Amino acid sequence: MEVIVAKTAGFCFGVKRAVEQVYEQIEKAEKPVYTYGPIIHNEFVVKDLEEKGVQVLNTEKELSALTDGIVVIRSHGVGKHVYDLLEAHHITVVDATCPFVKKIHRIVEEQTGAGRRVIIIGSPDHPEVQGIRGWGNDTTLVVEKPEQIDDLPVGKDEKLCIVSQTTFNYKKFQDLVEKFEKKGYDILVLNTICNATQERQVEARRIASEVDAMIVIGGRHSSNTQKLYEICQKECKNTYFIQSLGDFNPECVNSVRSVGITAGASTPNQIIEEVHTNVRIKF
Ligand code: F3S
Repeated sequence: MEVIVAKTAGFCFGVKRAVEQVYEQIEKAEKPVYTYGPIIHNEFVVKDLEEKGVQVLNTEKELSALTDGIVVIRSHGVGKHVYDLLEAHHITVVDATCPFVKKIHRIVEEQTGAGRRVIIIGSPDHPEVQGIRGWGNDTTLVVEKPEQIDDLPVGKDEKLCIVSQTTFNYKKFQDLVEKFEKKGYDILVLNTICNATQERQVEARRIASEVDAMIVIGGRHSSNTQKLYEICQKECKNTYFIQSLGDFNPECVNSVRSVGITAGASTPNQIIEEVHTNVRIKF
């Protein structure tokens, strides 16, 4: 019987940094602490923070209503106008935007300024993509699927700059870039997919191809966990998506010889450990 836990499972550098920054602010306890959106896609962490007095603000209207306090910008980052809004209201900002996302903001701002139309490869509804878009202008486009490319309002002679959502699937990114290249545009392609995601995906695929059952742990709304699940399911039919130990059904690993465990970027170590321990007990 074998249980393999992915080395890359759980918090990535950017998420760890963001969560730590919120806890640091709680300890300082100088002013009320807010996060703009949940700090990570993990309801257990968000609940713990709420119990410690951190409030989640979800809209710009709520930000505008603040008269005092500290707003922590989460690792996903936000558009430029959100910084402007907070500055206008004299609210202290703790910027926990992941440095890799921040780099994309800089690229988008610079390339837009240099006259290139920025194409963001990613999911239009994802907050990171919306934040990235907020550093471009009204020519900036988001593309998620190859079939969208034919209908884009892009002129033949336009100069393009392609960037990616950090958590986008590398293979799908390459396919989309190839389709753009075939159209003959002058394109500057910057692969801004984060290594943490690639490494986690590659390791998950390898483990899933070697085991009888695979467990993917992560928040229900976490897109990187959803992608991990899809990758693992292709390799291993017995792949299970759970949020925490509470969702774990021991029957799933009843008659298997090996189990793999991986987790999305927002999953605390403690949850991974709990699941790991319980799978081992089951064995
Ligand atoms: Fe940053 Fe990469 Fe994590 S972009 S938030 S380290 S997945």
